[in-house]
Amino acid sequence: MSGIPHDHYEPKSNAEKWLHRRLPIVSLMYDTLMIPTPKNLNWMWIWGIVLVFTLVLQIVTGIILVMHYTPHVDLAFASVEHIMRNVNGGWAIRYIHQNGASLFFIAVYLHIFRGLYYGSYKAPREVTWIIGMLIYLLMMGTAFMGYVLPWGQMSFWGATVITGLFGAIPFVGEAIQTWLLGGPAVDNATLNRFLSLHYLLPFVILGLVIVHVWAFHTTGNNNPTGVEVRRTSKKEAEADTLPFWPYFVIKDLFALAVILVAFFAIVGFMPNYLGHPDNYIEANPLVTPAHIVPEWYFLPFYAILRAFDGEVWLVMLVDFLTAGIVDAKFFGVVAMFGAIIVMALVPWLDTSSVRSGRYRPMFKWWFWLFVVNFFVLMWAGAMPAEGIYPYIALIGSAYWFAYFLVILPLLGVIEKPTTPPATIEEDFKAHYGKDHDGHGGVTATAPTPAE
Ligand code: HEM
Repeated sequence: MSGIPHDHYEPKSNAEKWLHRRLPIVSLMYDTLMIPTPKNLNWMWIWGIVLVFTLVLQIVTGIILVMHYTPHVDLAFASVEHIMRNVNGGWAIRYIHQNGASLFFIAVYLHIFRGLYYGSYKAPREVTWIIGMLIYLLMMGTAFMGYVLPWGQMSFWGATVITGLFGAIPFVGEAIQTWLLGGPAVDNATLNRFLSLHYLLPFVILGLVIVHVWAFHTTGNNNPTGVEVRRTSKKEAEADTLPFWPYFVIKDLFALAVILVAFFAIVGFMPNYLGHPDNYIEANPLVTPAHIVPEWYFLPFYAILRAFDGEVWLVMLVDFLTAGIVDAKFFGVVAMFGAIIVMALVPWLDTSSVRSGRYRPMFKWWFWLFVVNFFVLMWAGAMPAEGIYPYIALIGSAYWFAYFLVILPLLGVIEKPTTPPATIEEDFKAHYGKDHDGHGGVTATAPTPAE
């Protein structure tokens, strides 16, 4: 695919020419910053920048925290208290880091749902999507290991439950679990390797983010219409796009500022709202908490994990057919990872010829049901695994898989989409007035005070 035609960097002074011949870094920065961006992007396209900001925020606050943290089972809990009470601004750094993880996941879920609604995963953006999914998996691993570090009760028991899942893998499970933990149970070796990996993975994520951005800069951004930018001539491309700087940078920074007001209000006034009080009790291998609940962002998948217990007929059947090799526990683990795998495969499961959900009347209903179902699963995951809750989790899990494996493939065949606009320019004009002059649109049709 040829790129969107646009102006490129031309070195002017002798110094610029000198550098350009040796290292065209200014050219790279110019092309990145001035990249033609569909001018009809809505507010759901801000989450990428929020994610970049949050990643940097987590890395910076994390590096400061490590300066005062001690990865030893006898000292970790106390060292976190030391950060909270004695280190200058330590409480702020810790609360920003702790709530920053939640901001990261709120942003990533909105970013993913945006992609699912507007079909951003569809060709030619499959690689952007797959890299995104890898980032998401690494984010989950990083957050899980970070949560173990303060060595509270939930840290310890969460780590015990989740690493125990690997023990459910037939034949090799126990060996893998011991290898992950660095011993037979969650202990000092576990804490040390989790810190090491918790420090390393954000930099791997950073590397993947660069590849992610590279991938969608190659294909160009998707947009709410799902219609591609015209590439036949520079004039047409310019009618569909605006350069990223200053238009989208300013817009994204404005959105980020608003989000940060809410974020710092939470950090300042209710920093423990999303946390669990049990994690302020030091880890005790001899006392199990009444309910072991993961952080909110894991709950939908935790619900899927627990939904498939030994009473589900499908689980019983598989258990029987595999002579007990795939038991209920392993089935749950497969379902949990399977839920993410089917989402990663969505570029090949969605058969619709129309990209954006805006022009798909039937898809819209199933999509919003999928969003509601996500919250139902989150709620079910927070409830104890008894009474009606496992049934709700089971229905929710079934819908999750049905959405990707049955509904999306079928909809492409039976649905009759409405007609998207022919060009992005057309969509933009329909929203911002027909006399748009290419300089902000709205002003072109706004009445003057004299009128
Ligand atoms: C650290 C995490 C991530 C960062 C920093 C990041 C960053 C970005 C940025 C800056 C964009 C440009 C458009 C926008 O702002 O929406 C983008 C687009 C995109 N992202 Fe992500 N992303 C992350 C995670 C993910 C994940 C988990 C997925 C889901 C699989 C994903 C899927 C996509 C897709 C499909 C696009 C293309 C949309 C378009 O071209 O308009 N990203 N990402």
